[in-house]
Amino acid sequence: MAASTSFSLFSSILFLLFSISIASTSFTPRSLVLPVTKHPSLQYIIQIHQRTPLVPVNLTVDLGGWLMWVDCDRGFVSSSYKPARCRSAQCSLAKSISCGKCYLPPHPGCNNYTCSLSARNTIIQLSSGGEVTSDLVSVSSTNGFNSTRALSVPNFLFICSSTFLLEGLAGGVTGMAGFGRTRISLPSQFAAAFSFSRKFTMCLSGSTGFPGVIFSGYGPYHFLPNIDLTNSLTYTPLLINPVGFAGEKSSEYFIGVKSIEFNSKTVPLNTTLLKIDSNGNGGTKISTVNPYTVLETSIYRALVKTFTSELGNIPRVAAVAPFEVCYSSKSFGSTELGPSVPSIDLILQNKKVIWRMFGANSMVVVTEEVLCLGFVEGGVEAETAMVIGGHQIEDNLLEFDLATSRLGFSSTLLGRNTNCANFNFTSTA
Ligand SMILES: *[C@@H]1O[C@H](CO)[C@@H](O)[C@H](O)[C@H]1NC(C)=O
Ligand SMILES: *[C@@H]1O[C@H](CO)[C@@H](O)[C@H](O)[C@H]1NC(C)=O
Ligand SMILES: *[C@@H]1O[C@H](CO)[C@@H](O)[C@H](O)[C@H]1NC(C)=O
Ligand SMILES: *[C@@H]1O[C@H](CO)[C@@H](O)[C@H](O)[C@H]1NC(C)=O
Ligand SMILES: *[C@@H]1O[C@H](CO)[C@@H](O)[C@H](O)[C@H]1NC(C)=O
Repeated sequence: MAASTSFSLFSSILFLLFSISIASTSFTPRSLVLPVTKHPSLQYIIQIHQRTPLVPVNLTVDLGGWLMWVDCDRGFVSSSYKPARCRSAQCSLAKSISCGKCYLPPHPGCNNYTCSLSARNTIIQLSSGGEVTSDLVSVSSTNGFNSTRALSVPNFLFICSSTFLLEGLAGGVTGMAGFGRTRISLPSQFAAAFSFSRKFTMCLSGSTGFPGVIFSGYGPYHFLPNIDLTNSLTYTPLLINPVGFAGEKSSEYFIGVKSIEFNSKTVPLNTTLLKIDSNGNGGTKISTVNPYTVLETSIYRALVKTFTSELGNIPRVAAVAPFEVCYSSKSFGSTELGPSVPSIDLILQNKKVIWRMFGANSMVVVTEEVLCLGFVEGGVEAETAMVIGGHQIEDNLLEFDLATSRLGFSSTLLGRNTNCANFNFTSTA
């Protein structure tokens, strides 16, 4: 009798424990959501919560970056820090076959028999090896309308790097967040943790005061005032550049621009440059570490020539670095799509698939009086013919689908009565 009571008590406790653990894991989010703040240095910054106890960590967004790396030299304290043991599944996921030792007392970044990988600061093009490791990361989830509860990923892989690698990053930032085409980038790890499709959607705000948003996972994408952008995208294939960093395929996002039109006139270009060759040179990629679109010299010259001749007798004013072609703001009317200049069209896989840039994305307001064409010259040696930078993708919704290898793009949201700073981050949790 006593035995059977304690058995049933035991089993009901077991049942209770079991149901609690089911309850806490059965919430399956559709997506995670991160605010992205534009810093005055023109870097885009996200904040995640990491470690035990959780602390906020600010990271510069590197759209094509391999994975996340964080400075472990200064103040890294965590009871859930787990370095990746040599030849472990985590080392093979990170494609690291190295095995390191540490001759100092062990601490985050320095442990015996752990694998390492190169972390790369793509703002100043500096790399350094660091311990492959994992720790708890916590990010808010979303239903596509507003933020919901924060969710944890217990073993989130990253590289433990050093303070010197932070050079050139915005103040208060302690690493970079890679969203590239790898199995260990942020969206890939979130997808693995929550069984999402490997997909993320980025909407950068041009205002330093009001953050934009990154969704990692499924849609929908609802912006204030009650605008549903989920089914408003045009699609183009994402192309693979066979040559990336450290002998791997590139982790960056390339698209196939076939030609450029300005004011419906084709800009005369050497179209060979727009193709990715077998050495990985040429082609068009999208980047968040370049504040403005960078064009190989002959393409830049051709665009400037077409642009200035089409604008005809509108007088130019003195150049304002890094720009060359500048005008008085009084020369252009102002519209909801920015200064009223003719659009720049990127023609993609066929004549019907067009990424159209209006004044808000093609021109940069340098001062109250001066506006400049927001493209910069990349030199004749530029590896990539066109690097579409931050200013040109602000207030555009871009959906990067790693599983189907395609990019969904909205063109400017300004014509749809919303912008990227209009996601409702007020949590319902
Ligand atoms: C790590 O390995 C080195 C070399 O074998 C050894 O000198 C050191 O004591 C080890 N450190 C720890 C913490 O085990
Ligand atoms: C927030 O999300 C909930 C759940 O879907 C929804 O009922 C509510 O309308 C949303 N709030 C706003 C302001 O969109
Ligand atoms: C990190 O970013 C947040 C949000 O932009 C900001 O409020 C905070 O001051 C930053 N932290 C540091 C240490 O700069
Ligand atoms: C076009 O660019 C390719 C690649 O740089 C170069 O080999 C070729 O000579 C260029 N053609 C012309 C007509 O300039
Ligand atoms: C934002 O979401 C919160 C929580 O759902 C809601 O209370 C609030 O009304 C929303 N804000 C707007 C402007 O709709």
